[in-house]
Amino acid sequence: MAFVPPPYPHDRLGPVRAIAAAVPGGLLDASVGTPVDPMPAVVLDALSAAAAGATGYPATIGSVTFREAAANWIERRFGCAVAPDDVVACIGTKELVASLPRALSLRSPSRDTILYPAVAYPTYEMGALLAGLRPVPVPVDDEGHLDLNQVAPGDAERSLLLWLNDPSNPTGAVASPKGMVQAVEWARARGILVASDECYAEFTYDTDGRPAPPVTALSAGSDGVLAVHSLSKRSNMAGLRAGFVAGDHDLVGYLGEVRKHGGLMMPAPVQAAAAAALDDDAHVGEQQDRYARRRAIALPALESRGLVHDGGSSTFYLWLRDAECARDGWAIAEDLATTGLVVAPGDFYGSASTDHVRVALTLTDEQIQLLCERANK
Ligand SMILES: Cc1ncc(COP(=O)(O)O)c(C=O)c1O
Repeated sequence: MAFVPPPYPHDRLGPVRAIAAAVPGGLLDASVGTPVDPMPAVVLDALSAAAAGATGYPATIGSVTFREAAANWIERRFGCAVAPDDVVACIGTKELVASLPRALSLRSPSRDTILYPAVAYPTYEMGALLAGLRPVPVPVDDEGHLDLNQVAPGDAERSLLLWLNDPSNPTGAVASPKGMVQAVEWARARGILVASDECYAEFTYDTDGRPAPPVTALSAGSDGVLAVHSLSKRSNMAGLRAGFVAGDHDLVGYLGEVRKHGGLMMPAPVQAAAAAALDDDAHVGEQQDRYARRRAIALPALESRGLVHDGGSSTFYLWLRDAECARDGWAIAEDLATTGLVVAPGDFYGSASTDHVRVALTLTDEQIQLLCERANK
């Protein structure tokens, strides 16, 4: 059967956007989650300093400086040792998420199934489809944790890869360190590789809204494990496209070779900027505080419109449903659009979450204030 790409989730928001755009003062876009705060000065300095030298092709796997910065950051933030040679640069991580199943399936053609959380970033499923593989969602429990006991043995036997995503987009749930290790061990026992998308690691918060230690699947050892990291949210660099994958020596080497043939090169000035970003933690602390502050202000305002957050305390996403379970995600999105707020209906994240909406707190402080004034009217 010919592959027909489904409509891109956010492109389905046209009618909701139109309602919001008609509100005097304009729409507040909390749907995509695109960063709005400034890039750190260290990043901008490194970017411009490296621009003139970008006459030649950059290394696909990433410069030594970039890969060392990534390895040092993993050691510093997670306490896990990774060699710079076990890091490969990505042009942002969406392209890696979308292309990894294909690359891995060429390496292990006997397995045809990709496991991913049933409530999740849609690109995990899309990566499987683009590779011609079977996407199989893994149920999540009420707390947003993967329930691997529910994977049918037949699906597990056919599985090539298990995606983890902690903290989770969209739910904000995060695995415990023990839960993370157990998930990796479950996969290893079945010969399944693990790709752990940890792009929100720096936005791990405790239930009081304080930054908390992040978890990584690499704490279970790197054998069969790839940790996927992005600078998009950590350092407000989404427009520069910088990320990396780190972990299993053989897998990372394989991906480096495949990507070299595909010409998947992160521009050299971006590599320099990303290395500078990874070496600096001060700006991350500021961003963590911004999102915690915005959450504390925005959540009560949204609750006043009959919504409850039943996700976890991490990330900068609110995962809301109707307090009476009377409306689905699209109905909630339409109501919020009458206040100018555009949010993402839960079915963007799978058929298991149609009663929710995701609100991205990627709004400026002024916009958050406006959101509160309008929500309370
Ligand atoms: C869970 C998750 N993984 C990966 C990405 C890709 O981010 P980027 O391509 O900017 O690194 C996103 C972006 O929103 C995401 O939410």
